[in-house]
Amino acid sequence: MQSARASAHVLREVGSVKALVLVASLSLCMLPLLRGLGSITSRALSMASEVYAPGTHSAAFITCPNQTVALELARGIVQRKLAACVNIVPAIKSVYEWQGKIEEDDEVLLMIKTRSSKVPSLAEFVRSNHPYEVAEVISLPIEQGNPPYLKWIGDVVPEENTSTSSSS
Ligand SMILES: *[C@@H]1O[C@H](CO)[C@@H](O)[C@H](O)[C@H]1NC(C)=O
Repeated sequence: MQSARASAHVLREVGSVKALVLVASLSLCMLPLLRGLGSITSRALSMASEVYAPGTHSAAFITCPNQTVALELARGIVQRKLAACVNIVPAIKSVYEWQGKIEEDDEVLLMIKTRSSKVPSLAEFVRSNHPYEVAEVISLPIEQGNPPYLKWIGDVVPEENTSTSSSS
């Protein structure tokens, strides 16, 4: 410690920055801790390539007339890997204008987690399998979340193949 303080004093005398003084004394007194920090840093760097990019996945919402339709759609969506997860939220009340008239309906809400690139295919599937003339399908990008959960969505839902040269 004595020599560390002495060398720090010399550094200060020759006009070095305060940070250098701090580093000099830290490196002598806290070497084991610094080693620990080093391994944490390298682990953080190796994880950086797997960091979630905001908007990669989306939450989508679909309203359904009842539980039967909701469950059938949810199963079809997950079976076709159009989403990793569908939550069925029962007993919602919807108030909306349709053909000039205010309607109040009991509905069921589907809350869907999928890749953002899958939303167009999801909307297409809903259009051809939903009883409504104009089915609600909207989506919002997922900004952040629990990294293992976000990774799981990507593992379950394959990347949408946009290439036209592939089979079928
Ligand atoms: C659910 O909604 C569909 C489509 O509107 C309808 O055909 C079906 O009879 C309804 N089922 C029940 C149990 O209400």
